[in-house]
Amino acid sequence: MSEAIEPVIDVEGLREEGVDLALAEQVAPDRDISVKVGDALVEVKNLTMKFGGLTALDDVTFDIKRGEILGLIGPNGAGKTTCFNAMTGVYKPSSGKVLLEGQSLGGLAQHKITRRGLARTFQNIRLFGEMTALENVVVGLDARHRTSVGGALLRLPTHVREEKSSIERGMALLEFVGIADHAHFLSRHLPYGHQRRLEIARALATDPKLLCLDEPAAGFNPAEKEELMTLIRTIRDDGYTVLLIEHDMKLVMGVTDRIVVLEFGKKIADDVPKVIREDPKVVAAYLGEPEDDLA
Ligand SMILES: Nc1ncnc2c1ncn2[C@@H]1O[C@H](COP(=O)(O)OP(=O)(O)OP(=O)(O)O)[C@@H](O)[C@H]1O
Ligand SMILES: [Mg+2]
Repeated sequence: MSEAIEPVIDVEGLREEGVDLALAEQVAPDRDISVKVGDALVEVKNLTMKFGGLTALDDVTFDIKRGEILGLIGPNGAGKTTCFNAMTGVYKPSSGKVLLEGQSLGGLAQHKITRRGLARTFQNIRLFGEMTALENVVVGLDARHRTSVGGALLRLPTHVREEKSSIERGMALLEFVGIADHAHFLSRHLPYGHQRRLEIARALATDPKLLCLDEPAAGFNPAEKEELMTLIRTIRDDGYTVLLIEHDMKLVMGVTDRIVVLEFGKKIADDVPKVIREDPKVVAAYLGEPEDDLA
């Protein structure tokens, strides 16, 4: 914990890898959340995303209430990841809008949306492979601090003050997701499951109001999935709101408070898990999917 690490953030290398450094140069989001627990933290309104002739999201409307774990499910290609991408500024929606605490996120760049309080993980892990686990988290923390990656490299006085608390908080986050013993491993050397947990720690480092997880348990065995769901519940109990894409229906039923179902880009259901499980439209949508997806 007290062990000092050298700032080995290789800015040029990251640029060559195509990493968006702007994210790390942003100031922290304000943790104050203006909506009450149980009220709509995020409102997705008539969101439509077209790619040429394909409508990947078709007039989708739903709320995410502060303090809940909302599941977003649907067969392959239903539009789940596209929904994340349209919410987090990866894509500019063709029409419709996304409001966070009543404020539109329309047209904001990804790093600004992160700063407002929307953090996400990726279906295909995206870590800085040549950085240690701890450094990956510190990059997320830097999104909250006033000094930039440039400041970190120049070791400006403000940065030196912030560095110690960044390392301590980074370690705390690694501890929280259960991989503190691997803090000084290069992230590309981490076991696969640890990489998935590290992505969550890095997203949490930005102190998000909403944490969006895109199939965080993909590739896990049942025991690992169960552990991850326990972690997600802990994250919620810590006061975060979670939007979870997960293919395994049994898992999603067990961990979520409510579920939105997409099929061919349209919302076909939005209800508590036990109603979703019995919904004939949902059952029909999953026909042809692997049997064990439908618990
Ligand atoms: N950038 C893009 N350009 C063109 N088509 C896209 C793009 N991104 C997604 N699509 C298409 O939009 C549809 C929805 O894809 P999306 O990745 O959102 O599905 P998904 O529900 O996340 O599926 P999966 O469960 O397989 O991850 C698919 O038909 C996909 O091919
Ligand atoms: Mg997807």
